Amino acid sequence: MTSLEIIRSFPVEGGFENAGRVSSQVKAFLATLDFPKDIIRRAAIVTLEAEMNICSYAHRGHITIRILPHFITIEAVDEGQGIHDIELAMKEGYSTATDLIRSLGFGAGLGLSNMKKFSDTFRIISKVGKGTHVKMLIHIPKEFHPRKTRHASAKDGMGEEN
Ligand SMILES: Nc1ncnc2c1ncn2[C@@H]1O[C@H](COP(=O)(O)OP(=O)(O)O)[C@@H](O)[C@H]1O
Ligand SMILES: [Mg+2]
Repeated sequence: MTSLEIIRSFPVEGGFENAGRVSSQVKAFLATLDFPKDIIRRAAIVTLEAEMNICSYAHRGHITIRILPHFITIEAVDEGQGIHDIELAMKEGYSTATDLIRSLGFGAGLGLSNMKKFSDTFRIISKVGKGTHVKMLIHIPKEFHPRKTRHASAKDGMGEEN
């Protein structure tokens, strides 16, 4: 832990019609901290996908964003149905989305693969009947590091603290 760490936790609840609220909040929050556009865009994409999945496959959950000098982590935790085959769920195009979700234009089966693609480190842990925990890390480019920081490494951000 360092005094330079900023943590914000957002509840995800209220069903599918509220999906997108947290990622908008995260986007606005990062914009107030003057992050580069590309970092904000990637963080918003992975947060939206994580939020959509909580809204689609769990009743509620929360998304926590941690900002450190050299990287951002985004964690999505829910106590939903869990995933029984993560390898299959990660495949592009695989989806168990309901007809309602599909009729709204979601459920293309690209969420998890996009989370992996747009983050620098991606980890998912899931237990059927217990829930799902996704953790992603995005590096902050060197030119945006604060001048005096501790030597945090990405390993710190993805530590086994669950
Ligand atoms: N938080 C979650 N809880 C339970 N199942 C999930 C969760 N996230 C993803 N899944 C499962 O993984 C599949 C693939 O997810 P994703 O790649 O986001 O595609 P999509 O949401 O479009 O189906 C989902 O259809 C669902 O079966
Ligand atoms: Mg999805």
